[in-house]
Amino acid sequence: MADRFSLNDALAGSGNPNPQGWPPAAGGYPGASYPGAYPGQAPPGAYPGQAPPGAYPGQAPPGVYPTAPGAYPGPPAPGAYPGQPGGPGAYPPPGQPSAPGAYPAAGPFGTPAGPLTVPYNLPLPGGVRPRMLITIVGTVKPNANRITLDFKRGNDVAFHFNPRFNEDQRRVIVCNSKLDNMWGKEERHTFFPFESGKPFKILVLAEHDHFKVAVNDVHLLQYNHRVKNLHEINQVGISGDLNLTSASHSMI
Ligand code: GAL
Repeated sequence: MADRFSLNDALAGSGNPNPQGWPPAAGGYPGASYPGAYPGQAPPGAYPGQAPPGAYPGQAPPGVYPTAPGAYPGPPAPGAYPGQPGGPGAYPPPGQPSAPGAYPAAGPFGTPAGPLTVPYNLPLPGGVRPRMLITIVGTVKPNANRITLDFKRGNDVAFHFNPRFNEDQRRVIVCNSKLDNMWGKEERHTFFPFESGKPFKILVLAEHDHFKVAVNDVHLLQYNHRVKNLHEINQVGISGDLNLTSASHSMI
């Protein structure tokens, strides 16, 4: 059973009983990268991935973990980040030409601007460590069949997170690991917060013993680590039937 959960509440320590035990941290999303362009983004305060009250079966009534208005602000105003590159090609990488348009636009923190190409590979420099938060924002394509996150150690998949929209006409989230080219025992979840055609936000928080996943600020599942050397898990593959807006990691 999933509970209504506002990560913002938990992180800001604003009185959320924090039933899932997401650790507190100051400052919201340190290091989170959002692309400079926000295609199709809803107005501030109407976070696109946020579910309307009661949208999910089993969800706690509204107000249990209230989300502050504007908790997920819209795109920053131009010039909101001092030191931001002045435009495409304004600060070319060393040793490369500076022709206008030669480089993709950078987001506010120098990360690639969206939409990002799928399949997308998010490197995790130095690998996973406890309190690492991976944030993935996108929109499910219409008539989606599946979307996949693969936390990888080389050819191994330490954590495969795989929402399936139509497995024998049922919706299910399959989690597993692939070690030495063999899939292990699946962990299946029938609570399914994704909708074809709709925006979503996935938060994956690494903790000592497990990954914890929230979708649209609702805690969804835990996956106990099978690959225990977390630092060896150094990439997240994002694939399947989605349009990807941003993918980032930060420490909380
Ligand atoms: C297989 C599927 C893989 C992966 C795996 C998870 O049936 O082909 O892509 O999802 O299940 O157990």
